[in-house]
Amino acid sequence: MSKLLITGGAGFIGSNFIHYWLNNHPDDQIVNYDKLTYSGNLENLKDVESNKNYSFTRGDIADAKKISKALEGIDTVINFAAESHVDRSILDPAPFILTNVVGTQVLLDAARDAKVKRFHHISTDEVFGALQLDSKEKFTETTPYNPRSPYAASKAASDHLVRAYFHTYGLPVTISNCANNFGPYHYPEKLIPLAITNILEGKKVPVYGDGLYVREWLYVEDHCSGIEKVLEKGKVGETYLIGIDMDLPNIEIITKIIKLLGASDDLIEYVKDRPGHDRRYAIDAAKIKKELGWKPRYDFDEALALTVKWYQNHQDWWQKLKNKNYEDYYKKQYIIR
Ligand code: NAD
Ligand code: TYD
Repeated sequence: MSKLLITGGAGFIGSNFIHYWLNNHPDDQIVNYDKLTYSGNLENLKDVESNKNYSFTRGDIADAKKISKALEGIDTVINFAAESHVDRSILDPAPFILTNVVGTQVLLDAARDAKVKRFHHISTDEVFGALQLDSKEKFTETTPYNPRSPYAASKAASDHLVRAYFHTYGLPVTISNCANNFGPYHYPEKLIPLAITNILEGKKVPVYGDGLYVREWLYVEDHCSGIEKVLEKGKVGETYLIGIDMDLPNIEIITKIIKLLGASDDLIEYVKDRPGHDRRYAIDAAKIKKELGWKPRYDFDEALALTVKWYQNHQDWWQKLKNKNYEDYYKKQYIIR
């Protein structure tokens, strides 16, 4: 039996991971440690609240005293806590440095003191920068870091700190860098949930620039099984990239969602591009597949259909999130071309 501290467990991927872990490891204990920023939502975990192996502590990973207390008796830390949205990092980088960089360092110190058996850090393919649209190149574990947004730079810094704590202090760390996730409980500021919920509300879907920016999309449950493999079989000090070897331009993703919802292409609206917008991300996931035997369960179209259904069946969940603060952010962010 293991006792896990999940930081950022009230967010999109963290809450999916908690569901996944409690289903597959019912004897383990989980402490969810989350600051509950705008994207942290305890409604994501309503169905596990009464599980005796689950508990919640509200706190900031940058709060040394509180995090040390929360780490008592913990053997495994999985750090999902982060400011996670590129566009917000362009509007205001400071919170990204405070949580993603300083917060990770404070958490690493506390994990060292607590002598945890494993510190797993969740990162992103965005640390590697942008690939050319016309190349076949993909990111691998040896691709040099070249972050190009404040978000990506803050995640790159956190990855470097995690590796430094392995080399300097022998903290037993692993890192996974994954593709764009999608699925249930995804906050509706990111492309896929924004498109689905806007269409369900009869609103336009904002497409940045020419819409030909390419992303790789990983269903969140497959991400969770990838993290599980790294925890169970991964080698301490190593990094694993998690992706499904698919990548598509944004406009094609939006067109697929429009089709699934039986809506019209008239809802597509081209808006002002994101500054420094990375052209293409794509992952070569050969290492985790070959060395750890991981493979994704879902194909993209199947998972997209499941996701669209989930948002159709959970309108209460996302309608509450599209509140006054969300509207204020939306007005600041989107300028129609
Ligand atoms: P999210 O924004 O939905 O959730 C982040 C969670 O962290 C929220 O619950 C928030 O309250 C919490 N949090 C923020 N600051 C905190 C702090 N200082 N202390 C404690 N908790 C804090 O993000 P997500 O999409 O679930 O991303 C989770 C992790 O996965 C992040 O590290 C992100 O960089 C990484 N990641 C995400 C994607 C993606 O496509 N969503 C892809 C690759 C990597
Ligand atoms: P996003 O979901 O923000 O993830 P990331 O920037 O971390 O990859 O964006 C995915 C892609 O969709 C990215 O190329 C930006 C684009 N995009 C739009 O075209 N319109 C939007 O409203 C949003 C949020 C993103």
